[in-house]
Amino acid sequence: MHKLACPKCHQPLILDGKTYKCQNNHCYDIAKSQYINLLLNPDKSTNNPGDNKESLMCRKNYLNQGYYDVILNEVVNYIKAHRHPQMQILDLGCGEGYYTYRMQQELNDDSIIYGLDISKDGIQMASKYTKDIYWMVGNSKNIPLVDHSLDVITALFTVVKDSEIKRCLKEDGYMIHVTANNKHLIEFKELIYDEVKVKSDQFIRLPFEVSESYDFKKTIHLRNREDTLNLLKMTPHYYHIKKDRRHVLDTLGEFDVTIDIRITVYKMS
Ligand SMILES: C[S@@+](CC[C@H](N)C(=O)[O-])C[C@H]1O[C@@H](n2cnc3c(N)ncnc32)[C@H](O)[C@@H]1O
Ligand SMILES: [Zn+2]
Repeated sequence: MHKLACPKCHQPLILDGKTYKCQNNHCYDIAKSQYINLLLNPDKSTNNPGDNKESLMCRKNYLNQGYYDVILNEVVNYIKAHRHPQMQILDLGCGEGYYTYRMQQELNDDSIIYGLDISKDGIQMASKYTKDIYWMVGNSKNIPLVDHSLDVITALFTVVKDSEIKRCLKEDGYMIHVTANNKHLIEFKELIYDEVKVKSDQFIRLPFEVSESYDFKKTIHLRNREDTLNLLKMTPHYYHIKKDRRHVLDTLGEFDVTIDIRITVYKMS
């Protein structure tokens, strides 16, 4: 049974034909490709919030080459090691949906899985992977799920709001937070910026009890120019390249790049 909730009043949503409705008669249509738009108007601060289409396409092409499956495996292995029947799992800021989809394939069990992103383009792309995930356009600052309904929240390289995490997770639920450390994609930063800034706090700490926290570091070899450009274009660094540095793009080919991330598992109790 799904745990979708109205983003206006947080009451459960019930399917009525092609519309989800709450008891207060707030209605949300299901799109042709089966995702649900649960983003409220005041949340649409721009017409098209979240990552743009080009960046999402690059992300999709890059991730589908499998280069970041090492990250996926860390997340999936943790969930598998702690799994139980009928889990409710939310992938927050799921982007174009690669990780969410692969998580579902890898778990291959009776879990109910949700993918949420503020980018409509992202969710449209995600809904092409499978219809067996609840794909939602929505805001992680106002998660459209029932209070204390989730066993697991995953958040990979995305914005989280601690009060919403606390509200949505069950008491024995947990969150897997993947964040970038200073040396993450350092080779791109060195190429693009005159000076690489080092942040003092290596990762974003949330005010929950840490159940596990470790760094994962690995150099990967990007096999060709296309893959290298896709990775660069799916990061904000691409949009920060100054005009007088644009020429570096012409010389890019195969490339060795560092993955440097922190994986933190938070528990609520
Ligand atoms: C760096 S991408 C990561 C996407 C995906 N987790 C991955 O690793 O491939 C960050 C994502 O967060 C989404 N995002 C940003 N602000 C958001 C918000 N307030 N609510 C939901 N998603 C948001 C963006 O649209 C984007 O898809
Ligand atoms: Zn409502």
